[in-house]
Amino acid sequence: MNTSISSDSNGYFTADRSADVVNARMGKAINPRLAALMRSVVEHLHTFAWDVGLTQEEWEVAIKFLTEVGQMSSPERQEFILLSDTLGLSMLVDSINNRRPIGATETTVFGPFHVEGAPILDMGANICLDGKGERCLFEGRVLDMDGSPVAGAYLDVWSDNADGYYDVQQPGIQPKWNNRGVFVTGADGKYSFCGIRPIPYPIPQDGPVGQMLTALGRNPYRPAHMHFMIKAPGFQKLITHTFFSGDPYLESDTVFGVKKSLVAAIEPADGQGTWRSTFDFVLAPLV
Ligand SMILES: [Fe+2]
Repeated sequence: MNTSISSDSNGYFTADRSADVVNARMGKAINPRLAALMRSVVEHLHTFAWDVGLTQEEWEVAIKFLTEVGQMSSPERQEFILLSDTLGLSMLVDSINNRRPIGATETTVFGPFHVEGAPILDMGANICLDGKGERCLFEGRVLDMDGSPVAGAYLDVWSDNADGYYDVQQPGIQPKWNNRGVFVTGADGKYSFCGIRPIPYPIPQDGPVGQMLTALGRNPYRPAHMHFMIKAPGFQKLITHTFFSGDPYLESDTVFGVKKSLVAAIEPADGQGTWRSTFDFVLAPLV
């Protein structure tokens, strides 16, 4: 660290102890967790600026970028989650906070496209409302750590359509609740529903995060996946996806969401183009 710029020891800003000066301004009677978080943010930001020798022009580019991320965000478009996802931060936070016992289904990113309030449907129902895509049956069981079925589990599921877009990305084009639904298990713990075989999709590229990936020479694609959020009394909520064997993007997911244990088999279900993907979810008990 360059210590030659200033060594003023009072409350004035000095470059060599800049983070300390900023953090010393915090009040005494503030939320201790907030204090700890902000102290670390300030220290890392200042260390970053020193490490890279941040120029004024680069600072301006960063401010413009973050401004555009905010301007692109709306109730239907969460550009900040995309930024977090593509920087690997979402997966890191998920990994830190959602460690599961061995044998329980692993978690992955929530993603920006979940919508609260999807209709509760009968087992076996079709969630594809736009008639596009290759039909796929999703089947399996919800189990506890002993392998016993979990009754009363709510499976909230969502996927893109055959064009690679979620319904909320195409209001007025896709029917509302297209490729979404909630299913509740009975005593046998089984679930089944009919959707489409999801397809790989690029994260939205018309915003600053897409431009960032282009500038970094990065692939914008996610491998095909079905989203699941499973809630059951007495168990930890499970937010995860299933992926599909053979997908070309399994090892280059732009949001780093793939875990080997979440790759499901997919196979022809009949001779008429319908697929079947089977996956059993194992819930961890509340701790
Ligand atoms: Fe997704």
